[in-house]
Amino acid sequence: MRAFPHFIVFLVALTACQGGRHITSAIDPYHFTATKSVVARNGAVVSAHPLASKVGVAILRQGGNAVDAAIATQLALAVVYPNAGNLGGGGFLVAQLAGGQTVALDYREMAPAAAHRDMYLDAAGNVVPGKSLNGHLASGVPGTVRGLFESLRYAKLPMRTLIQPAIDLAEKGFVITTREANAYNDLQADLALYNTRPTVFAHSSRWKSGDTLVQKDLANTLKRIRDQGAAGFYEGQTAQLIVEEMRRGGGIMALADLKAYKALWRTPHTFDYKGFTVVGMPMPSSGGTLLHQMLKMVESQPLPRYGFLSPDAIQLMTEVERRAYADRAEYMGDADFFKVPQKELTAPAYLEQRMKDYVPGVAGSSTVTRPGRLPKESEQTTHLSVIDAQGNAVSVTTTLNNSYGSKTVVGGAGFFLNDEMDDFSAKPGVPNFYGAVGGEANAIEPGKRMLSSMAPTIVLKDGKPFLVVGTPGGTTIPTSVFQTIVDIIDFGMSANDAVNKPKFHHQWLPDQIDIEKTMPQDVRAALLRMGYKLNERVGIGRTEVIRVLPDGRFEAVADNRGEDGAEGY
Ligand code: GLY
Repeated sequence: MRAFPHFIVFLVALTACQGGRHITSAIDPYHFTATKSVVARNGAVVSAHPLASKVGVAILRQGGNAVDAAIATQLALAVVYPNAGNLGGGGFLVAQLAGGQTVALDYREMAPAAAHRDMYLDAAGNVVPGKSLNGHLASGVPGTVRGLFESLRYAKLPMRTLIQPAIDLAEKGFVITTREANAYNDLQADLALYNTRPTVFAHSSRWKSGDTLVQKDLANTLKRIRDQGAAGFYEGQTAQLIVEEMRRGGGIMALADLKAYKALWRTPHTFDYKGFTVVGMPMPSSGGTLLHQMLKMVESQPLPRYGFLSPDAIQLMTEVERRAYADRAEYMGDADFFKVPQKELTAPAYLEQRMKDYVPGVAGSSTVTRPGRLPKESEQTTHLSVIDAQGNAVSVTTTLNNSYGSKTVVGGAGFFLNDEMDDFSAKPGVPNFYGAVGGEANAIEPGKRMLSSMAPTIVLKDGKPFLVVGTPGGTTIPTSVFQTIVDIIDFGMSANDAVNKPKFHHQWLPDQIDIEKTMPQDVRAALLRMGYKLNERVGIGRTEVIRVLPDGRFEAVADNRGEDGAEGY
């Protein structure tokens, strides 16, 4: 359904209700542009959509802290950025709170009780292409709504204030861009295949830039959440609509799965790098552990002397990425189900040993480099970075997995469900959508959370937030965050350059360096001479960075690769 043409309404004020009092902030969802970089004193938000970033800053202005803003921004993204912003997916939050406490929240999706390890294999034991990616069987039990309510523990404003801008955006609509119109047009065939009810995204004529997207079903779901709390999603009408959708499409998620879902507080994965403290996400995300391994493997190497984008630096970082991702395939999974040898994987002696066969100037090989031997005892996601003047910094990465998840919209509830089951290893050694392989550690089990690469990260200097960083990008997430940190700390680059200059990626298998189109020709030639195989990609990630400047102001940078927006005040 497309609603009123936007020329009839020029400005709608988004209203948020705090303690019965209406707060109005002039956000115009029909006329807006993306600010790519901002320097602010009081607070800043960077996210994948300018309207969502504006909502976050409006909440900061209304007295909310960075946690409030992160909640409101995620809810707004669920409306204005439906390819990854979500109610039907999951995510991770890492935060440093005013006062110095660091926290990590896991609201990753979970395999339904009826899931089993061979559920994506045919009778011959082969993976059925697409079965874990599209349609009703692809979805894990969504975690986002529980995660948002758990996050409220550190927020100042009530959920009804934080959710109202999202309700307004869904109910009154917002104008879409050319890129979004193209994405909806490209989605039409999948929508027809994987939906059992009409959706607002399906349309007989072509979507075009300037159309207004109104999502009444989604607005009603958000209102149930506003009025009933998390039970407005995990129980009652919304849960019923999800389960009916499952029944119509052959899915396995049940009412009991939804009711049982819990978001879990985890101990952040924290380590030092060159005098900074890196606070990352622990299992079931590989993000923090991979970052730890990669940064420690380069810490004693002459990276600053090599320089940004020098073939020597790219080679060293590639070899480090190769080794970390080989370990990911073998050892990493949901630590509540599989004993992940966390300490061993990050032990200094182990990482030193891991680099013993690194030869500067010569390409390594993934047939030679295997997962390390440990001592016995042992493209769619979205990121937002938020900071406030009280000392709270929040880094959140959230996902449906692929763009628009399983492509199934819950009939009558208006939101896409995830296809996160594909992040499990459907069969040992068989690559998933991102080309990642896995084994026992990441095999499917009922109630288990699939291994993630999401790496919401905060870097502290003298115990205070210095960088709030993260990106979407599946398996490329940890390597992009790794490179962004190295670019700023080792190469002394500006946040803007660290976000927007070329990135690269190696994940052990396939044995190739993914490079962006913008990678200079002479660098490519040098890497080819060393013996690397190169694979050109349009873009790697959409990194959102907030950097605290020496005078205490916040520099927020939104990635030019997307229509992301940075806002502050
Ligand atoms: N779905 C992408 C990830 O969690 O790594």
